[in-house]
Amino acid sequence: MITVSIASLNKSVIMVLVVLVLVCVGLLASPAAAATGGEEVHLVPAVYVFGDSTVDVGNNQYLPGNSALQLPYGIDFPHSRPTGRFSNGYNVADFVAKLLGFKRSPPAYLSLTPETSRQILRGLRGANYASGGSGILDTTGNTITLTKQIEYFADTKAKMVANVDSQGGSPSVDELLSKSLFLISDGGNDMFAFLKQNRSAMEAPSFYSDLLSNYTRHLLALHRLGARRFGIVDVPPLGCVPSVRVTSPDGESHCVDGANALAGGFNDLLRSLMANLTASGALPGATYSVGSSYAVVSYLTAHPAAAGFREVAAACCGGGRLNAETGCTPNATYCSDRDEYMFWDGVHGTQATSRKGAVAIFSAPTKMGFAAPINFKQLVSSS
Ligand SMILES: *[C@@H]1O[C@H](CO)[C@@H](O)[C@H](O)[C@H]1NC(C)=O
Ligand SMILES: *[C@@H]1O[C@H](CO)[C@@H](O)[C@H](O)[C@H]1NC(C)=O
Ligand SMILES: *[C@@H]1O[C@H](CO)[C@@H](O)[C@H](O)[C@H]1NC(C)=O
Ligand SMILES: *[C@@H]1O[C@H](CO)[C@@H](O)[C@H](O)[C@H]1NC(C)=O
Repeated sequence: MITVSIASLNKSVIMVLVVLVLVCVGLLASPAAAATGGEEVHLVPAVYVFGDSTVDVGNNQYLPGNSALQLPYGIDFPHSRPTGRFSNGYNVADFVAKLLGFKRSPPAYLSLTPETSRQILRGLRGANYASGGSGILDTTGNTITLTKQIEYFADTKAKMVANVDSQGGSPSVDELLSKSLFLISDGGNDMFAFLKQNRSAMEAPSFYSDLLSNYTRHLLALHRLGARRFGIVDVPPLGCVPSVRVTSPDGESHCVDGANALAGGFNDLLRSLMANLTASGALPGATYSVGSSYAVVSYLTAHPAAAGFREVAAACCGGGRLNAETGCTPNATYCSDRDEYMFWDGVHGTQATSRKGAVAIFSAPTKMGFAAPINFKQLVSSS
């Protein structure tokens, strides 16, 4: 995948370059904070996070009838505790927030109390509305739909306006929001649902068009509410995750092509949609970057050793073939060398994968293909 966009360059040179970037930037996980000797300096006022389990930091724990994730989820989180993240530690929302100078993702919206909301109501830090299981379509999953997540954000904004206006002065809520990062990572669950329904490839075009029209609706809603900087994460190559590999006899050595093609086809349209929406004036004043989890996972799958991984097919936590036939439950077995695994459970990356992915979409030169048309760092530096 990556080699397509950089076909003119020598493959091994690219590999060295990518590894260098990953290593160098990885060592400086929080450059903004480090520069001032402890005092946090942020590249944006706040981060608002939307989407699915790739960026959920605990909202689902507050849904009635939803049983909270238990250890070993969170085993590598500070104090080794489950937080509702679908990871052994931090996830992509955390690492993007860290690269912006924050300590981790803003808190889960449903966890907020008056005490933890003070900064947020001043337009600072942000909040995380993401919900594992949800999709671009309201019909996907039975957790917090993206439509509902945006309604929750509208609620937050109304409270911010009331709060900031009562204090008078500047900057205004809209100024703060226009500089903040709106991070959206979504679409994988819509595709899992499509695959589960055994729908034929012939139905993909109409499925894509539903996804794109709904994605457009969500982007327009966020724009109306003041969002201007969109950091969008595309859909990973779903055929490479352990729970999909295990459906194929050669899953140990090969990703499942059909599932990858479904995700890749959508991602191409998503980039085209974003280019069209911004060029046509549908999102005045907006800038965006599409970070490619597809490119990241494809790269890591093809070059495990260069990226420091030993295992990129099997899950760390689970049971059976590829550790993906049974779930990552409290009694499941899990690997001890978690930084050497790409996948934590049957579908989600380890903390190590999230870190490498966030660094790549944030900082890697765009010619490497991890973000387009600019990377996240350029997105938050644009005026
Ligand atoms: C999809 O196909 C599989 C295997 O061919 C079958 O086991 C499953 O029941 C089918 N699912 C649906 C929703 O038709
Ligand atoms: C969203 O997708 C649904 C299918 O789930 C489709 O029926 C509907 O037309 C789409 N909505 C919009 C606003 O495009
Ligand atoms: C973007 O615009 C081009 C040119 O009008 C069109 O061919 C393409 O289908 C559009 N892409 C999407 C996803 O709507
Ligand atoms: C582990 O626990 C689950 C329920 O959480 C149960 O269904 C499963 O059989 C258990 N597996 C083993 C190997 O004990």
